[in-house]
Amino acid sequence: MRLQDTGLTKEEIKAKVDTYMIETYERFDMVAERARGMYVYDEQGTPYLDFYAGIAVNSAGSCNDKVVLAVIDQVMDIMQTFNYPYTVPQALLAEKICTTIGMDKIFYQNSGTEANEAMIKLARKYGVETYGPHKFEIISAKMSFHGRTFGAMSATGQPDNACQVGFGDMTPGFKYATYNDLRSFEEAITENTIGIMVEPVQGEGGVHPAKPEFLKGLRKLCDDKGILLLIDEVQTGWCRTGAVMSYMNYGIKPDIVSMAKAMGGGMPIAAICATKKVAKAFTMGSHGSTFGGHPVCCAAAFAEVNELLDRDLAGNAKKMGAYFLEQAREKIPALKEARGQGCMLGLEFEEGINSVDVKHKCFDKKLLTTAIGTQVLRLVPPLILQKEHVDEAIRIIAEAVKELM
Ligand SMILES: Cc1ncc(COP(=O)(O)O)c(C=O)c1O
Repeated sequence: MRLQDTGLTKEEIKAKVDTYMIETYERFDMVAERARGMYVYDEQGTPYLDFYAGIAVNSAGSCNDKVVLAVIDQVMDIMQTFNYPYTVPQALLAEKICTTIGMDKIFYQNSGTEANEAMIKLARKYGVETYGPHKFEIISAKMSFHGRTFGAMSATGQPDNACQVGFGDMTPGFKYATYNDLRSFEEAITENTIGIMVEPVQGEGGVHPAKPEFLKGLRKLCDDKGILLLIDEVQTGWCRTGAVMSYMNYGIKPDIVSMAKAMGGGMPIAAICATKKVAKAFTMGSHGSTFGGHPVCCAAAFAEVNELLDRDLAGNAKKMGAYFLEQAREKIPALKEARGQGCMLGLEFEEGINSVDVKHKCFDKKLLTTAIGTQVLRLVPPLILQKEHVDEAIRIIAEAVKELM
């Protein structure tokens, strides 16, 4: 639906949102009516260069032709059946994902937070049933972000963040250790610990990649203690970081991994993958989802995943991410640090430059970005980007920062 189909103005649409929606988002001042590849178009057809991709979602480009066709095809056949019958898209996607990332089993969910709920539930059930009723504690990282449902929210190590404040007690069974500090995790382990849960790059925490010795060390620590390594690849997964899964950059494998965002090419789908040994803890009726494994979302994901792999968009993410960081360091003023992994990029500014202001200035100059707090600008573009897109984004960000100095 576009404005012109309704006869309404942009201001009238904004007023309806104001009146009827519970607003928890700071909006861009645009009506997004269309998107293709690297661009989002507003109500007047003005293109915006997309360096946020629906927050790390549209990795093979917005409205990728193959994904769109897969959706249309599937919508015409069958949209929803619950999980009683078998469906072709579920089966093909399951095989593709498990064989690509070297995991045994998959369970479908609808969103990142739900995938993390499933990951936490599976780990806890495995712990309790294998070792006894108290073995369900999970250690996650300070400054992590795992989602907004109670389990995932409780795993999130940000007690002062708006996503946790004012909701009463968190779910018991979580402890927090310092990210990139192996000893801190080691010291937090008790006889009740069943697993360690981390993002390979902390996204919402400010785009901080795990150091190799940290993630590899966690794998070894988990093996030594006989506990599980749970990796949240909701934001990092599916080629964003220069590997299919970010954990592959470290040469390790988790016991359970969660994924969402990019896997559906714009459709809402998520999943966990687990080893056979751990996956067995989910028995008939112990977990489920009405929409999880939705045929249309699975068909979209199958097309998206194939696009990402066939076009080596992980390779492109690695190349373009490195080029972006090099150009940023050279051309963007007031930069404290430019960091990231693949095309999961963060620019941290010096005191006095507010990243939210930079984001607004970039928007005015037709570049879409997101800010994390007031210090970091996050760039998570579609992975089809080319040098010319990087050059344009760098030019706009540099100009925006200069205007704020
Ligand atoms: C690492 C990580 N985990 C979980 C989530 C939650 O995903 P969703 O918003 O799909 O529930 C996010 C969202 O930003 C995330 O970055």
